Amino acid sequence: MATFVADPSVPRTPADQITAALADPGFGRYFVDHMAHALWTPEAGWHDHALVATGPIPLHPGLAALQYGQEIFEGLKAFRHPDGSVWLFRPEMNAARFARSAVRMQMPPLPIPDFLDSVTRLVELNLDWVPSAPEQSLYLRPFMFGSETLIGVRASNEYTYVCLGMPVMPFYPDPLKLWVTPNYARSMAGGTGGAKCGGNYGASMIAEHEAHAQGCGQVLWLDSATRSWVEESGTMNFLVVTADGELVTPALNGQILAGITRDSLLTIAAAHGLRGVERPLGFAELCSGIESGQITEALACGTAAVVSPVVGIKTPDLELVVGDGSPGVKTRELRAHLTGIQFGTEPDVHGWLRRVG
Ligand code: PLP
Ligand code: COI
Repeated sequence: MATFVADPSVPRTPADQITAALADPGFGRYFVDHMAHALWTPEAGWHDHALVATGPIPLHPGLAALQYGQEIFEGLKAFRHPDGSVWLFRPEMNAARFARSAVRMQMPPLPIPDFLDSVTRLVELNLDWVPSAPEQSLYLRPFMFGSETLIGVRASNEYTYVCLGMPVMPFYPDPLKLWVTPNYARSMAGGTGGAKCGGNYGASMIAEHEAHAQGCGQVLWLDSATRSWVEESGTMNFLVVTADGELVTPALNGQILAGITRDSLLTIAAAHGLRGVERPLGFAELCSGIESGQITEALACGTAAVVSPVVGIKTPDLELVVGDGSPGVKTRELRAHLTGIQFGTEPDVHGWLRRVG
């Protein structure tokens, strides 16, 4: 395993400036002092693993990722516990997904131990940046891109890995209404929907814009072939609670991102009297279930978003209110349980936390 070596000359942010930043961190407004950096070439493989000052890196504008979109990323968080200790949540799941995304995009996977070393050392070196205020955490953004100067179309022959760290609040502070766009699709059989590549997000911006114009916070994506199956939301997986005590989420079919929060909620569901079920979820079933009361709650989840109650679904022809239009009881319980584990106020019976400092 390669070790990310810290550059001792990285300038440190004075404590009072960190305190000021943590008073209102936003999401990506401030960055910690170090970033992880490594390079890949065919001759040397992954090399030059380092923790350097966060800031610009010299790149040629003809680089492969800018021309042809070979880029993947991850998102994970470190949490401060009441005793001051700092913990990463399920980082090996992100490391494994990062490697799977790399394979889909014809990129060289970063070895899992290297990924884990980068995030662990980045947090270790920047512990003062890990917030202690409720709901706040340190978000880590590992990403990799084709960095060869390349105008001819083929897979890049050089890659750059970077991991940035930033204090954050949850991404969606309010309950969400979701917009079912009739015009755009996120994913298709054989496409990149199951990979966390930047292009998926670039392609979804227009639908997100449409959602906002419709008074909705995000999109609820349906399958592109038949527009009859629910897939996921923008930046989040989608789940419903049924009157029969199930927590249902669309099964992973290669077109949906295998969310780590999704997996965690399915696992803790039993503690809340719910059976976690992964199966195809029809859009017609979703609408009729909301109307009949068979579906009592809807929610969306992700690392940045945490758990967002979904209180409404809107299409060009129909507007549905979920339950009584306020966050559901089970949604609130699941959110409190998950964040309790992350922030160290609920027991970590599944062994999901990795201590950093
Ligand atoms: N689906 C999409 C499209 C996402 O961008 C995310 C965020 O990472 C998720 C689902 C949730 O995944 P996770 O819980 O691993 O953050
Ligand atoms: C995450 O939850 O980590 C995401 O990637 C969502 C978003 C900020 C793109």
